[in-house]
Amino acid sequence: MDIATTPTTPEGNPEIADAAPTPHDPPVIRREDYAPFAWAVPTTRLDFRLAPDATRVTATLDVERNPAADPSPELRLNGDSLTAESVTVDGAPATWRMDGPDLIVTLPGERHSVEIVTIIDPSANTQLMGLYASNGMLCTQCESEGFRRITFFPDRPDVLSTYAVRMEGDKAAFPILLCNGNRVAEGDNGDGTHWAEWHDPWPKPSYLFALVAGDLVANSKPFTTVSGRKVECNVWVRAEDLARTDHALESLHRSMKWDEEVFGREYDLDLYNIVAVSDFNMGAMENKGLNVFNTKYVLADPDTATDADFDAVEGVIAHEYFHNWSGNRITCRDWFQLSLKEGFTVLRDQMFSQDMRGEAVKRIEDVRILRAAQFPEDAGPLAHPIRPDSYREISNFYTATVYNKGAEVIRMMRSMVGETRFRAGTDLYFDRHDGEAATCEDFVRAIEDGAGVDLGQFRLWYSQAGTPRIAVSQMVEGDTLKLTLKQTVPATPGQPDKQPMPIPLKVAVHSRSGALGAEQLIVLDSAEQTFDLPLAGPDPVVSINRGFTAPVVIERSLSREDLVFLAAHDDDPFARSEALQELGVAHLVGAARGTLSAEEQADGEAAIIAAFRASLADAALDDAMRGELLVLPSETYLFEAMATGTQLADPGAIHTAREGLKAAIATALAGELQAAHARTSAIPLDDPAGRGARKVKTLVLGLIAAADPATAASLAAAQYDAADNMTGRQGALMVLCSLDVPEREARLAAFYERYKDNALVIDKWFTLQALSFHPDVIAHVRKLAEHPDFTIRNPNRVRSLHMAFAGNPKGFHKADGEGYRMVADVILALDPINPQTAARFVPALGRWRRIEPGRAALMKAELERILASGNLSRDTFEQVSRSLE
Ligand code: ARG
Ligand code: ZN
Repeated sequence: MDIATTPTTPEGNPEIADAAPTPHDPPVIRREDYAPFAWAVPTTRLDFRLAPDATRVTATLDVERNPAADPSPELRLNGDSLTAESVTVDGAPATWRMDGPDLIVTLPGERHSVEIVTIIDPSANTQLMGLYASNGMLCTQCESEGFRRITFFPDRPDVLSTYAVRMEGDKAAFPILLCNGNRVAEGDNGDGTHWAEWHDPWPKPSYLFALVAGDLVANSKPFTTVSGRKVECNVWVRAEDLARTDHALESLHRSMKWDEEVFGREYDLDLYNIVAVSDFNMGAMENKGLNVFNTKYVLADPDTATDADFDAVEGVIAHEYFHNWSGNRITCRDWFQLSLKEGFTVLRDQMFSQDMRGEAVKRIEDVRILRAAQFPEDAGPLAHPIRPDSYREISNFYTATVYNKGAEVIRMMRSMVGETRFRAGTDLYFDRHDGEAATCEDFVRAIEDGAGVDLGQFRLWYSQAGTPRIAVSQMVEGDTLKLTLKQTVPATPGQPDKQPMPIPLKVAVHSRSGALGAEQLIVLDSAEQTFDLPLAGPDPVVSINRGFTAPVVIERSLSREDLVFLAAHDDDPFARSEALQELGVAHLVGAARGTLSAEEQADGEAAIIAAFRASLADAALDDAMRGELLVLPSETYLFEAMATGTQLADPGAIHTAREGLKAAIATALAGELQAAHARTSAIPLDDPAGRGARKVKTLVLGLIAAADPATAASLAAAQYDAADNMTGRQGALMVLCSLDVPEREARLAAFYERYKDNALVIDKWFTLQALSFHPDVIAHVRKLAEHPDFTIRNPNRVRSLHMAFAGNPKGFHKADGEGYRMVADVILALDPINPQTAARFVPALGRWRRIEPGRAALMKAELERILASGNLSRDTFEQVSRSLE
């Protein structure tokens, strides 16, 4: 059945959202057009009369002319789908008019008080931007431009204001009333309603405003800061979720302590509130003193959350906490500077998690994410620099490039100057710009001044898109290895010609005799350069980009023997896993292209099998690291490696080659894999080695399934039945989902029955089926879209089913285009309801240009069908039109 034309939710047909239709060709906003706002707003008072379908908002803005801006007799206040009930200036009726969605007030003097009344309908807010209803509660999401859906306001990050908020509402429906800052007063009206007043002493931009009203309970534990300030920390959830909040609360405390120790940052309020909501477009939001989180990144216990979920909760809690300094105390001048706060904060959360969980494994995971999400973006039609030059809809720029590549760029600065000087640079940044709305340029200059480094050429990393490629060649001369590196930065949309960038690379020259060379940092800063490196012994093997010092692609053809040597002996654990990846990529791309002779095919397989055997047997490895070594390159990563230069990716051939390799490994290592499964299955849940063991257990099960589905099915069923934790249970179910075996249905049904009241676990149930390699996966997904628990209105649910499916390399790329059609139908159905989430599906289809012609034509046709449907949101219009350019 066609999702676009049939009811897909239990409530019936999706109704059209409240947004006014957008013009077909929304305007382009440019970074170079930045101008300061004509007015300052030192204080903002907000009064909310809360009701789910008609909330009355009275906003009082004290405004004064900004001497730094061009004078204007008019005050432009942004609005989105708002109508003003009344506008007064200094208590008298004002002269005002609408300009499209915005309200323009004429102001004769230097200083005025402007009062505006709006009435909004949170229950009709399906976009989940502004004030909306979720599960009986009211909450807000304002970043980037949601505040203008609450009241008319200069909704831009460089207008900082001190907020005083009063809210009043039904006591039974909303016993808890929260806002930014501190609660200064509360009271009961005696008529079933009550109120609270909040004051946030820290001036902030409107995107950091938050309000929550609902029936919530808190898990609380105070934190004492380094200077002795006692901070009340609360994690607010619905009563039935309270038992799953300890990990989030503990993670918050660990983050607070770590930021004091590692970056010298102390918390600055007496209260820190975190609220979990089940309808949320993103992961979480760093509103001052009142973080709002997707439940997915708060709730965790071993029965319902996997080890990876625990890590994600810890990482996102840390991320939002770290924003208090990198984001809130110092915010962004304009949205083009988004990476100023996001890139830096991602780096900070990655460093924190590396310190909490072990450096190498976390680094391998982060690089895997970068390659899976950012490299494809950088190589496609949506490529943009970490500091973009233009946008139509800023929500489309919350990307892996701005976040993850942004973090890599700052990590490179840190690698070049070292930890101590980097800290001097960040200290200067926090000191110099505290209380300001800053730019990426301000950050770079602070690092230059504080760390004592010239980042002149390095600034290209902020302006140039595209993943640099480095071709490596080497020559031995006496006791020196001459390493020649050539860099190219590929053309990207709007940037045909690129300059060479400074690329820091940690390298070591090992010897096949077993002598390991010392690590050193070299910086490639021209198109081609030769470095003289000392030899450690005969038969040198270069270990390069150790620890992934730079977000680049290394192009070289090391012999299989050299790669096997590095995989087994390199002293950098990251480099070991990297060597195995290189071995896998070279073999699988060759196999997918059909260019391997029978002998090369056999030799490649044999080398990989030998490396896997060694990893399984290596007693010096812990299972957490062993697990990383047993992960074959993902199909997305292989897709990138296959589609280089003028060559195109063939998803079908990649899938066949990768599954074939898995089967070859599993056939050759059947005994070892089953032994590893038995060994790891015997390690109990709370053993310190348990985490790594659980990872290895499911990985080997997945390998076994490739060669011997019947054995894998019975092992998986046994693992499922015996599991006392979600990691083991989900892992077993994941393996079963891809198999056409009788064990599959029974376990899926049992899982559903056990968890049917837990939305986050039911999300997993949808995802496992959407990601499976089962031959009928498309039929399964279509059927699941009609399941009573499916609703397109809940972002977690639509991500759990359709977003997961769009990332299923087999189902999505089914050669007849049925997967593409289904995703396009979802975009069309979701766009009128939640454009931000709908637009997130576009990049999957946007990759058509780098795919073999048959599939490319089908993908392009779907994009054209979306564009032709007319009346698209700004979000989806921008992504689809860029994907077709
Ligand atoms: N600042 C939030 C975070 O990184 C994300 C907010 C995203 N908002 C949006 N409209 N895309 O933690
Ligand atoms: Zn962030």
